[in-house]
Amino acid sequence: MPVATKAARLRSLELWRRAQEALAGGVSSAFRARAVPHPLYFQGGSGARLTDVDGYTYIDYTLAWGLLILGHAHPAVEQAVAEQLHQGWIYGAQHEREIRVAEKLVELIPCADQVCFSNTGTEAVQVAFRIARAFTGRSRILRFEGHYHGWLEPTPDTLILPWNDVAAVERTVAEYGREIAAVITEPILCNGGCILPAPAYLEALREITSRHGIVLVFDEVITGFRVALGGAQQRYGVIPDLATFGKAVAAGFPLSVIAGRREIMDTVASGKVMHGGSFNGNPVVLAAAEATLQELSRDDGVCLKRAAAYGARLRQGLAAAAGRQGVPLTIRGVETVFRISFGDEGPVTDERGLTAPPAGRLGAFLAAALDAGLYLLPDGRWYISSVHGEQELEETLAAAEQALAVVAQG
Ligand SMILES: Cc1ncc(COP(=O)(O)O)c(C=O)c1O
Repeated sequence: MPVATKAARLRSLELWRRAQEALAGGVSSAFRARAVPHPLYFQGGSGARLTDVDGYTYIDYTLAWGLLILGHAHPAVEQAVAEQLHQGWIYGAQHEREIRVAEKLVELIPCADQVCFSNTGTEAVQVAFRIARAFTGRSRILRFEGHYHGWLEPTPDTLILPWNDVAAVERTVAEYGREIAAVITEPILCNGGCILPAPAYLEALREITSRHGIVLVFDEVITGFRVALGGAQQRYGVIPDLATFGKAVAAGFPLSVIAGRREIMDTVASGKVMHGGSFNGNPVVLAAAEATLQELSRDDGVCLKRAAAYGARLRQGLAAAAGRQGVPLTIRGVETVFRISFGDEGPVTDERGLTAPPAGRLGAFLAAALDAGLYLLPDGRWYISSVHGEQELEETLAAAEQALAVVAQG
């Protein structure tokens, strides 16, 4: 693998400077501007690897922020999409594949009696709120600190609590319960440090919301089709009323899904909730989703099992390398999505509990890891795909050890 140096990524730097003239902010999604040392420009991706415009190839652990569960340019997805393109790419009307994909989702997702399609996670969350409000006749949404549910502003009647704190939910619901339409949570706090739910916390949310007639929404935009085929609800055995999916469901094509109990989803069928969208049910996107779901379901879910086994070995290898280098590395999360940080070890149950890590260590690690051939997200998050294999693991651990050695030198 060629090793890049900061100075050598001149073409990317040139494009980054040019982009800021005509493209507001220089990037198409604000989060991408945080890249260390500056946003890179890419010319291609294949399997677990991405190649930038300067000709350097990296093992990709960003996976387009979690979308590429099957890696780049997976042949089954590519073929399904290509075949659909030859038959036209949008009808603005019905086609059989939307039924087949809906049926498959109902089979895979524990809370799903029915689903609706939209295009992004942000949209799916808004649809879920609308459905919950129509179903309950209430307006408030209860959400949690550090959770990300899309880029739209929270509605003014939102209550925000620390996560993993059952007593706080009990108190708030006792006071406002009759006004609360939905409680929404990431079932694993992937966006706020990859923090796991405390034992029995999700069960407590389930019990409290049921008792107060509140719709429980799991935002599974990250966890869906990643931490288990049926999402975190399957992994933890806690079934929400509604759930939102995006990212991995179509392995990189813009599909999001709202899934839920029939009696609640009936608000859509009855017309109480207006759910529209010119791009909804796009045949190309659903071709990608159908191929993805087939691939993820085959051989008793071997793809996700392989990704999880890889993630577990990677985590062990990173911890061992950090030990050898004498660097205090913390790893939080699950096998296929986890986050590393430096110097904030100790049990953490919510975003507030994350101590500010000593300045610069993560940045130093990310820059050195990039030079050694690893492409990571700016917050230290790693996503694993089903196509990361033995070769990638070996190269990654060698590269990470080099980067940890840089951190150790201060
Ligand atoms: C948990 C969660 N919900 C919603 C969203 C918004 O999804 P999108 O970026 O597709 O609008 C994201 C995006 O990262 C997410 O992580």
